[in-house]
Order: sequence, then C-alpha cells, then structure tokens
Amino acid sequence: MSNKLEAIILAAGSGSRMYSDLPKVLQPLAGRPLLHHVLTTARQLGPAKIHVVIGHQGDKVRESCGDFKEINWVLQEQQLGTGHAVKQALPHCASDCQLLILYGDVPLTSVATLSKLIHLDAAVGLLTVDLDNPDGYGRITRGENGHVQGIVEHKDATRQQREIREISTGIMTLQCRLIQPLLNSLSDDNAQGEYYLTDIVSMAVAEGVIPETVQPTNPIEVQGVNDQSQLNKLERSYQRDLAEGLMKQGTRIMDPARFDLRGTLTAGKDVVIDINALFEGEVVLGDGVMIGANCCIQDTVIGDRTVVHPNSIIDGARIGAQCMIGPFARIRPGTVLDSDVRVGNFVETKNATIGKGSKASHLTYLGDTEVGQEANIGAGTITCNYDGVNKHKTYIGNGAFIGSNVALVAPVEINDNAHIGAGSTITKSVPENALAIGRGRQRNIPDWKKKD
Ligand code: UD1
Ligand code: MG
Repeated sequence: MSNKLEAIILAAGSGSRMYSDLPKVLQPLAGRPLLHHVLTTARQLGPAKIHVVIGHQGDKVRESCGDFKEINWVLQEQQLGTGHAVKQALPHCASDCQLLILYGDVPLTSVATLSKLIHLDAAVGLLTVDLDNPDGYGRITRGENGHVQGIVEHKDATRQQREIREISTGIMTLQCRLIQPLLNSLSDDNAQGEYYLTDIVSMAVAEGVIPETVQPTNPIEVQGVNDQSQLNKLERSYQRDLAEGLMKQGTRIMDPARFDLRGTLTAGKDVVIDINALFEGEVVLGDGVMIGANCCIQDTVIGDRTVVHPNSIIDGARIGAQCMIGPFARIRPGTVLDSDVRVGNFVETKNATIGKGSKASHLTYLGDTEVGQEANIGAGTITCNYDGVNKHKTYIGNGAFIGSNVALVAPVEINDNAHIGAGSTITKSVPENALAIGRGRQRNIPDWKKKD
C-alpha cells in the first residue's frame, strides 16, 4: 500500500523571459493563472497536503490563490535551484509520505498521467518524454541494462549526452524518507551554480534505487511556459481541445481556431457557434441556440432557440427562449429577458427585466427598468435612470408603446397599454391606456426667409 501523497509545487522563479510585471505563474491560460491549473490538477489527485514554494513576488502569488485554502505556503527567499526549493518544503512534509513534484509553470499535465506516475509507487518515479529537439532540458541517462542512472542538465551535459532525446520534465515522485538526507548533501558545483533537484536521481541510484519512468500521452502535458510564445502555443492547444470536446458532444463550431473559452460552456443540442466567439465564466446555451460572429458572452444563461446576432456583448444575463439579440447589442449584468424578446442593434440593457414578446429593436438604453409583456420600445428611447447621485427605476407596463426618441426620466411609471408620443420627455407617470406627449409644439412660420 502506498504512503500518503503530498504535492510540492515549485513557483518561486521570476520568469524573466516573460518581460511582465505579473509573476510567471500568474500569467493566464484560458483566463486562469497557470498556477491555478496546476493546483486544480493536484487537488484531483487527493494529496494529504499541497505545498507551494514561492519567492519572486510571493505575496502576489499567494493573494491570487484565495480559493485554494488548503495550500501550505513555503517561502524560498533566494532562488538557489529546484533542489533548494524542495528542501524548504521538506520540514512541512510527513517523513513517510510520497512526494509529487510539480512546476507552477507547467499547467496542462493530465490527472491520468500523474496518476500513472504516482501508482508506480517507486522510490523515484520520473515523468519523461522523448523530444525531437531536447535543447535546454535535463537529459535522462540510462545504463546498458536500460535502467535510469541520472539526469544531466543541458548546460552540464557532454556532446554525447546532448544527443539523448529522452528528457526530464522535472515532474517526479520521490519517497520523502529517501531524499531527506540526499537533499542535505546536494552541491551547487555545476554550470549554473544551483542546487539541482535532478541530482537526487543519481544519488538515489548510488544507494541502490532503480528509478522508474512513465511518459505522458500527449507531449503538450509537460510543456512549460518560459516566454509569451510558449504560452500562446499552450493556449491555442488548450482551446483546440476545449473546442474538440464541445464538437464531440454535438456543438457546431464554425472554426475551432477562432473559438475561445475562459471558463465553462454547457451547450444543448444543435447549438451553432460562429467565428470569433469568446465565452467567459459560466455560460449555458440551450438547444438550438445560435451565436453569431464576434460575440463575447460571459456568465450568462441563454434559452432554447435564441439567436444572438454578430458583435453582441452579453454579461451576467438570463435570456429566455426564442429571443433575438443584436447585432451590436450590449446586454449588461442584471438583465433578465423572458421568451420571445427582441433586443436589437445598438440597444444597451442593464438591471432590466423584459417581459415576453416585448421589443426594443434599435438604439435604446434600458437601465434599472422593468418592462411588461408585448411592449414596444421605439428607436432612441432612453431611460434617464441616474440623476447624478442616485439611480432610479423605470416601469413600463404590458402592451405599452413608447414612440421613438423618448426620454423616460426615472422614477417613472408607464402603465399598461399607455402610448408615448415620439420625441417626448416624460417626467410624470402615465396612467393605463393614456397617450402622453411631452414635447414642444411645432410651429410653422410661413414665408420664413433667412435674413442676409
Ligand atoms: C528544470 C530541470 C530540468 C528539466 C526542466 C523541465 C532542474 C535542475 N532542472 O530545468 O531537468 O528538464 O526543468 O522544464 O530541476 N524554481 C523554484 N526555485 C528555484 C528554482 C526554480 O521555485 O530556486 C521553480 C521555477 O519557478 C520553475 C521550476 O522550479 O517553476 C523549474 O525551474 P527552472 O529554472 O525553470 O528549471 P529549468 O532550468 O527549466
Ligand atoms: Mg524551466
């Protein structure tokens, strides 16, 4: 029976090649910091503890991980190498545990691959991969019997060793009891003047240990992030996988290379997503929903058969069935649309509830507003909801008809079946079935000529 698992995630490095003020492990992949991906994976393995070694901008890294309350933070004040980093965490680990070493900048290792590594239950288990271009990586050296003898860092390797294509991903399992004394005798007498964790391997071999290895199913799993270009490769590969996953479940994605998901997307049957769609947070699309080109949709639920036309931005909304949105609609947080609602081009809504069958087809702002059923809101209608200090509510009843270019100065109530004449500025509530006109009368002055 294997010992208890504890994960150590190394995240103290500066990531100087990112040329960014943001620590490397906080750079986003699919909208989440790299480190969060690693933590989420680590969690799924059910370790007794997760230790994260921080150093460079450690406070920032820590602050960003509020959702991972179980983390034991370990400070490595000076980044003297991966061996030194693990050594800082060791006093916090149970001496009979199995350690899993992960890197905060290697975000896509799968739970399945790590499970394989853990279940080797080896004193030293290494995740290795064969690369066509192994430059920069530590090489796995093997004896004639095929057993691993050690890891040689690229900068310390001989020309012959540099021919080796099997590299160390850095991810490994180690028996805590075995490595405790070995870490103490690590030396920094090498090309980089660092305490290499990888030196542990040959030291363990010298004590009679035979390291075991597994390889990932997909090399992307062990890809680290050192610069923006590598981060982009991971992003595109990850997005491609997310799109493939949705397509396998029946979603039609017009171009998976122009699809981005930064969160979770749940799609019903026969959903079509046109090009350049961006989904963030938690988005749920009902059956037959169509998302037009260039839409950004965040934290929103959209009902069956609703069509979102191109260039619409939707955030924090609940949208019913068979609605028509956009093109160029901006639906802001707190918007709740019943079924068969039309919110057309250049219409902005915020904190607005709109009843079944109502329409605001063009050029409208509805803020802090409640609209009943089958109301018609003409082009250019604006709810004046803000008096400079407070926000006020507008109420528009069932079947109300608001003419074009109306200013509704809140708080105000337009009751059921009321009509508002075009161009009105409405400052007082309008009773049911009434017609309200609030505009200067037109005067025609005959034979008017411009004076010279
Ligand atoms: C390391 C491995 C190398 C492997 C490669 C895979 C060593 C000595 N080498 O090299 O065999 O092929 O990863 O990508 O381990 N870190 C700390 N504290 C430190 C130093 C590093 O927390 O003092 C963290 C870094 O933030 C990073 C990780 O450890 O997340 C790896 O460090 P890095 O300097 O990138 O090691 P490599 O030279 O890439
Ligand atoms: Mg590295």
